[in-house]
Amino acid sequence: MALYSSIRPVFLSSQPPVYDFLAPSLFKISRVACSARHISTTPRRFAQSNSKDAASSPPSEAPRTPKSGAEAALKPSAPSKALTQAQRDFLSSALRVNQAGELAATLIYKAQTPVVVASHPHLRPLMKHMYDQEDGHFITFNSLLARHRVRPTAMYPLWTFAASALGWGTAIMGREAAMACTEAVETEIGTHYNEQVGVLLEMVAKMEESGEEVGEELKSLVETIRRIRDEELEHLDHAVENDAQKAVPHELLTGVIRAGCRGAIWVSERV
Ligand SMILES: [Fe+2]
Ligand SMILES: [Fe+2]
Repeated sequence: MALYSSIRPVFLSSQPPVYDFLAPSLFKISRVACSARHISTTPRRFAQSNSKDAASSPPSEAPRTPKSGAEAALKPSAPSKALTQAQRDFLSSALRVNQAGELAATLIYKAQTPVVVASHPHLRPLMKHMYDQEDGHFITFNSLLARHRVRPTAMYPLWTFAASALGWGTAIMGREAAMACTEAVETEIGTHYNEQVGVLLEMVAKMEESGEEVGEELKSLVETIRRIRDEELEHLDHAVENDAQKAVPHELLTGVIRAGCRGAIWVSERV
């Protein structure tokens, strides 16, 4: 929950975002849908056009002119251009696949932990640490999906079953197999996040080159994915330190799991 608290001011602010990286798609949302939500992503110009809502806004939200400091820093000072359809599609599919991956990660650890800890109690703090981080990642992407109205993958029920089965199956094979599962999953997920960061940085660089303002949310998303990537790679290190590579048969087990991860990523990006 500490992780959730730390990102909450950025992603769940009661103020509308200055630049929402999926903002163009949000303009299509109906007034009813916007007014029914507690966390509004209504663009400012849309909100101001709704005189009834404006009249009922609490006094603390009434001032619209940035004052100073951080608030002033968010004031647009460069032209902003809508993202291309390809960029918006990339961001939607990135959030969708990331949420699916974090769902799977939490379920793998949830299934593994009771079995692994029963025979190796000293691993309880490590399993809890990794689970807690995965849970934080899952909360992060759940929030981002809700905020940007990105639908979860249609494969959600299948991934739920598959991840639980993978976690339980590797745990009953033994501690080494459970760690080999983490090694395989984190190798693929770390690579996946790294590639996403690369694409996002390229997007940011192009915007800066053309003199466009890069929205705070896009910058924040890059930092969030970077941090999560680093935590996934930390899990990979923990797995190797705890004899993942002594699993039998290590190559076959990690090869099958890695192929499964790549397949799941490919499908979740599209479906
Ligand atoms: Fe994760
Ligand atoms: Fe992880």
